Amino acid sequence: MKKNLAVIFGGRSSEHEVSCVSVVTIAKAVDLEKYNMFLIGITKDGEWKLVEDIAGIEDGSWKESPVSAIISPDTKGGLIISQDDMMKVQPIDVIFPVLHGMYGEDGTIQGLFEMADIPYVGCGVFASAASMDKFYTKLVVDTLGIRQAVYVPVLAEQLEDIDEVTARVEAKLSYPVFVKPSKAGSSKGVSKADDRAALVVALKEAAKHDYKILVEETIVGREIECAVLGYGKNTKASRVGEILAAAEFYDFDAKYNNVESKTVIGADLPDGKEAEVQKDAVAIFNALDGFGLSRVDFFLEKDTNEVVFNEINTLPGFTSISMYPMLWKDKGYSIESLVETLIEMAKERP
Ligand SMILES: Nc1ncnc2c1ncn2[C@@H]1O[C@H](COP(=O)(O)OP(=O)(O)O)[C@@H](O)[C@H]1O
Ligand SMILES: [Mg+2]
Repeated sequence: MKKNLAVIFGGRSSEHEVSCVSVVTIAKAVDLEKYNMFLIGITKDGEWKLVEDIAGIEDGSWKESPVSAIISPDTKGGLIISQDDMMKVQPIDVIFPVLHGMYGEDGTIQGLFEMADIPYVGCGVFASAASMDKFYTKLVVDTLGIRQAVYVPVLAEQLEDIDEVTARVEAKLSYPVFVKPSKAGSSKGVSKADDRAALVVALKEAAKHDYKILVEETIVGREIECAVLGYGKNTKASRVGEILAAAEFYDFDAKYNNVESKTVIGADLPDGKEAEVQKDAVAIFNALDGFGLSRVDFFLEKDTNEVVFNEINTLPGFTSISMYPMLWKDKGYSIESLVETLIEMAKERP
């Protein structure tokens, strides 16, 4: 008997477009002999559409779909499909949320799946929420003794007294500093500030994305990433990948538009550093109650060769140039077997 799989993409976050690319990679890898696939696209306005096929995602026409499809929080609901005056209820066995950022990677939609009692791929409510919020992640990682950039938390409302904020930052950090929204992604709202004037601009920019802002010491070094798969004591770590950003830092453009940005699978690291990154990645994932998958990002500081944790992504990018699927390919998982492993794992959630 075929299982009914719902794949949800798009969403209201600033990473909507990235999700629309990630979902194509994932949907194409789903075994259609095993699953009836229901593609559900969430528009930027938050409308849920039943999408006929992958081609409609690739050309963007899915947004015009006249059929709506929503997940009901009622445990007998599953998927409610409606068009004009017609309505039907479609049972769903498993959900793959291919959503990045707010309302997708932050525990909100996971809460809906929990209420509906439908198994789903990836991190649960708590791990998603705690990992989405970079400030909260720092509090958890501080307890593990893993180094992170020194940081100053700022609330958007505090920007009314900008002199107090800049004084607080300058008391703890020296320029250049990194400024980022606590909850965002794909480098949206992230900037590097070389002086006080730039800091003020950067804080205001970050405040457009979140009321919680982090100002961080700049880590000079290499950007490395480790993929994790599994849960609990069965969590596996991939080899370590490296980002060679074709820009001053790995901003949105460098990530998705600049063909000069390169990724290396199996980075050549000093002795013992790969094992340290893998161990830290699993420890962080487990401390945050991770389940299924995550990509854990670090720096390798230039002068000290120290491993510095940067952030964790519970639903990392799955575009054709994304690190997560490439790191598992290197470990012998085709994209098809990776997707199947993740879907199968959904029902093992404790
Ligand atoms: N403290 C820092 N020091 C140096 N570079 C940083 C720092 N924080 C962020 N960056 C740069 O900005 C990019 C985006 O920041 P990141 O924290 O990863 O946010 P996002 O969730 O948007 O990916 C990183 O990939 C890195 O290039
Ligand atoms: Mg990042």
